[in-house]
Amino acid sequence: MRIAIIGTGNVGGAVARGLKSKGHYLVLGARDPAGSRVSALAAATGASTALPADAARGADIVVLALPWDAAEAAVAALGDLTGKVVVDCMNPIGRSAGGIGLKVGHSTSGGEIVQGWLPGAHVVKTLNQVGAEIMADTSLLAHAPVMFMAGNDVGAKALVGQMLADLGFDALDAGDITKARLLEPFGMVWINQALMRGKGRMWAFAAVPA
Ligand SMILES: NC(=O)c1ccc[n+]([C@@H]2O[C@H](COP(=O)([O-])OP(=O)(O)OC[C@H]3O[C@@H](n4cnc5c(N)ncnc54)[C@H](OP(=O)(O)O)[C@@H]3O)[C@@H](O)[C@H]2O)c1
Repeated sequence: MRIAIIGTGNVGGAVARGLKSKGHYLVLGARDPAGSRVSALAAATGASTALPADAARGADIVVLALPWDAAEAAVAALGDLTGKVVVDCMNPIGRSAGGIGLKVGHSTSGGEIVQGWLPGAHVVKTLNQVGAEIMADTSLLAHAPVMFMAGNDVGAKALVGQMLADLGFDALDAGDITKARLLEPFGMVWINQALMRGKGRMWAFAAVPA
């Protein structure tokens, strides 16, 4: 598959590392595609580099690995994504007096908002439920970690499920895009354990069979 990764920070870099040598054509979409950090990531993963809109054009899957607050403008700048499969890894997190938390929930979700920005695309919410280190190398864990997907298009989830399997995840369908309302607070459970309760970052949820 041709996979465009928009945003080359912790998550974008980890997804590129995790998909290295898995038979995909990877394109890193970055504001400074010739910069030393992006070039080093490209050299390490075999990816090519491009400006975000150029990376998205022609991709089978467009992975959005952007800060939530920058996402709407950055997504608008990608151009027409009609018919494309778009993976939303983003947790709509903001800071408040009580610490960090979700900015939306209960009656909508980040996934639904992204689908609203891209009505012609097939948005799949996933890869928001563990830290980036796990996405780069799931083999460090004792079990295959579970990764839920929420999206309206069955074919899009099948394609994204293949990508998740290539990353070493046990991909499970959570239902339509409204189920992002479940997956985003679920991502916060990982964040709470990892960052606030001292569990650290090298663990994930697993769906363990009987
Ligand atoms: N970190 C985690 O472990 C983790 C796990 C699960 C989900 N998430 C979610 O994944 C998303 C990304 O997190 P992250 O930790 O990877 O963030 P990050 O390290 O800060 O990386 C964000 C990337 O987005 C790019 N970017 C920012 N504004 C942009 C714009 N207007 N146009 C194009 N690119 C832009 C940045 O580019 P520059 O390098 O040019 O600034 C950077 O490459 C967040 O929504 C987060 O909630 C994070």
